[in-house]
Amino acid sequence: MSLKDSVLEMLRESRGEYLSGEELSARLGVSRTAVWKAIRSLRGEGYRIGAVTNRGYLMQEADAGISGEEIRRNLPARYRGNRILVYDVTDSTNLRARQLAAEVSPEEAKSLHGAAVVALQQTAGRGRLGRSFFSPEEGIYLSIIVRPDFDLSKSVLVTVAAAAAVADAIEKVCGKDARIKWVNDVYLDGKKVCGILTEGISDFESGRIDQIVIGIGINTTLRGFPEELLGIAGAVEGDYSRSALAAAVIAGVLDYLEDLDSRKFMKTYREKSLLTGQTVTVYKGVYRKDPTEELGGRPARVLGIDGDGGLEVLYSDGTRETLRTGEVSIRTEKTEPAAEPADNREQEDPAR
Ligand code: BTN
Repeated sequence: MSLKDSVLEMLRESRGEYLSGEELSARLGVSRTAVWKAIRSLRGEGYRIGAVTNRGYLMQEADAGISGEEIRRNLPARYRGNRILVYDVTDSTNLRARQLAAEVSPEEAKSLHGAAVVALQQTAGRGRLGRSFFSPEEGIYLSIIVRPDFDLSKSVLVTVAAAAAVADAIEKVCGKDARIKWVNDVYLDGKKVCGILTEGISDFESGRIDQIVIGIGINTTLRGFPEELLGIAGAVEGDYSRSALAAAVIAGVLDYLEDLDSRKFMKTYREKSLLTGQTVTVYKGVYRKDPTEELGGRPARVLGIDGDGGLEVLYSDGTRETLRTGEVSIRTEKTEPAAEPADNREQEDPAR
């Protein structure tokens, strides 16, 4: 156990009681400076640790932050041996996960299945369609590495399964009824609280995709959000353990992918589908760089979700169609401006 995790454990055990720096350093056999550094690092992860002169440190709220140890404690036993890397701040957990996958030997690569990279803040969060994803501190930004043992034509189901796993996890850990907006955005009270970006890592020599990185960004507070995002972005706020939420998402995604062919996740996905029954405008074959740009779209009523995660719609002339991700964008009647880009997605990534 790292010094940081030992300090955390002692603070947790003496919750409600101050613990002096002197006592911590004596019990752990390290200097007071080392204790202080561990406290500073825990604070950086979001733990609320108070300090009062002559009394010491006090854990103010249970599980306010995220640590690898806490995530592991909340994982089912079968996933506790998985690699979990936690950063206070990183550029992008998807990039870190890809880097991890690139660094290991082919033998080790197998053991990366189910590894997760988690951060509380990202400085270069990546969104879909090459956009950036606003990722201020106190969020849950995580990327899960999986080695697909399924046909890659089913890869769209990975994203569908991940969205269902996030909605399940929010309900289980936070007691909130999250909704899924096709194809992979998770909403609470009409605002987007989570975005998902799935990327394949291909083997340079074989050209085959041999690993998939599933990046999931959950807002847990709107502190730090710029005014222009506040109308569309929401957050999973409240008194719950963020480590428990991260663990529930990781376990949920891995469970669903373990048994992808059974498509168990479709039940949650359909039940929580935000668009079903709504009238939307369907835009085809155009990637709108500027979401305010007016483009012709076709109104349609959403009938439901098919077995492959396609959106079944009915147009006003009576024709039906099943829309597949990547080829369309959807604007709901109520959502103005366009639902793409919503939320944390900034208009254009200046780095591109
Ligand atoms: C979107 O809504 O456009 C998808 C956003 C995905 C954001 C997550 S946060 C964790 C992971 N790391 C990234 O850089 N992006 C994904």
